[in-house]
Amino acid sequence: MSRSYYIAGNWKMHKTRAEAAELAKALAARLKGGKHKYLVAPSFTLIETVAPIVKGSNIRLGAQNMAAEEQGAHTGEVSVLQLKDLGVQTVILGHSERRHVYKEDDGLINKKVLLALKHGLEVILCVGELLEEREAGKAEAVCETQTVEGLKGVAPADLDRIVIAYEPVWAIGTGKTATPEDADAIHAYIRKVVGKLYGPSEADKIIIQYGGSVKPENAAQLMAKENIDGALVGGAALKADSFAPIAQFDS
Ligand code: PGA
Repeated sequence: MSRSYYIAGNWKMHKTRAEAAELAKALAARLKGGKHKYLVAPSFTLIETVAPIVKGSNIRLGAQNMAAEEQGAHTGEVSVLQLKDLGVQTVILGHSERRHVYKEDDGLINKKVLLALKHGLEVILCVGELLEEREAGKAEAVCETQTVEGLKGVAPADLDRIVIAYEPVWAIGTGKTATPEDADAIHAYIRKVVGKLYGPSEADKIIIQYGGSVKPENAAQLMAKENIDGALVGGAALKADSFAPIAQFDS
């Protein structure tokens, strides 16, 4: 397989500046020389603290969201220009908490994807079904729609700055992980969807992370699956003692 593994930590709404600095320093030390691609995505207010710590390391600097507009009268929003100013390289978009708690729809997420790409950022586009959608046999259809709509208007030349994260909503923060087989089946399906849009060689290249209760104990089994190219980690990303072993899983 030519794809390399990409392990990302989504810190969500956790940590103060001092705590974030401590975690970032521990990760920079422990992941030094690590063989995969890594990222941390702290809250907006922590980015400036974490940036100099990960600069020059093998850990990329990410944000968890951004506004769909470049700048202007958007109270409470954070712009792509502001993220770039802090050295952010990657933005997570369409996370299930953004979709389901903050009611972001595919159209808004797509607007953000295009804006992030326009400004040179890498995008981690999250897709995934709710429990009732899975139980109704709609997991593939939901992931297909979110992938197709999220990528609308993305030029083939920009696809190498897109990562897809498959995060079944019922597995996020619940301790329930999709079985490696179930996750792999959806990853394969998403890859097929990308193939329909961009052709087989692009489908083969695209990195698809799995997210949803990834832990040191289950990372290697998930990563061993053909179509799983990494992880987007929430809870276990909050401590170096749990994120480092995931990032350094035995491949
Ligand atoms: P979790 O979160 O690892 O705590 O399940 C994953 C995510 O929401 O990105």
